[in-house]
Amino acid sequence: MLVLVTKSASEGALKAFDIFKESLSQGDKVFGLATGGTPEELYEMIRESDLDFSNAYSVNLDEYCGLEPNNPHSYHYYMQEKLFKVKPFKESFIPDGVIDEQVAIEAYESILKEYPVDLQLLGLGRNAHIGFNEPGTPFTQRTHKVALTHSTIESNQQYFKESFVPTHAISMGLQSIMDAKKIVLLAFGESKAEAVQLMIESEPSVDVPASILQLHNDVTIIVDEKAASLLTK
Ligand code: GLP
Repeated sequence: MLVLVTKSASEGALKAFDIFKESLSQGDKVFGLATGGTPEELYEMIRESDLDFSNAYSVNLDEYCGLEPNNPHSYHYYMQEKLFKVKPFKESFIPDGVIDEQVAIEAYESILKEYPVDLQLLGLGRNAHIGFNEPGTPFTQRTHKVALTHSTIESNQQYFKESFVPTHAISMGLQSIMDAKKIVLLAFGESKAEAVQLMIESEPSVDVPASILQLHNDVTIIVDEKAASLLTK
């Protein structure tokens, strides 16, 4: 695990941008993408850059159950707005949160088989979840339907304002994430400090989903000073 501590979130986003740029220039074709507040600045940098993804593919980590792609709270909508409108990929895949869940899960697993991820971008939940793999998720888990924890629903409330926060999602599993050749995880701000410390310094355990990343051979963790504040080493 390579851990980079940056002065600010913007500096961290720039480091991630450089990793994307290098990966693209090396001929990588499949990019695993994440949603949430954390990657927004990176996506802005990509939007404003001359990077060209029109010959590449994207696969997203997750989608809420029950939200149509044109729902402004859906991750389909988020990706359109934050990236795809300006930087289209040859093809972009996001789990389908509306159709029969078993069909959606199987379809996504075959997409992941057909398009193995070269570079996977991750954010980090406050309880150290990645994708929507909440504490307790087996390390061997592949794409699955998830019941979101109270803490995740609560922290997502900020994006939903008055509207109802979905309680379930379809998410790539921890094993599906670990299949990526390279992984870059971003975590910024004090609210992530505890999760960052556990992810890096605790023994890998299902109680800390992101700790599985210690078992991957090409992971870069980019944290700002606030998110790194509880690291002891
Ligand atoms: C959601 C997403 C995760 C994301 C996490 C953190 O749970 N499914 O992929 O990493 O939120 O979100 P934020 O970046 O807004 O803190």
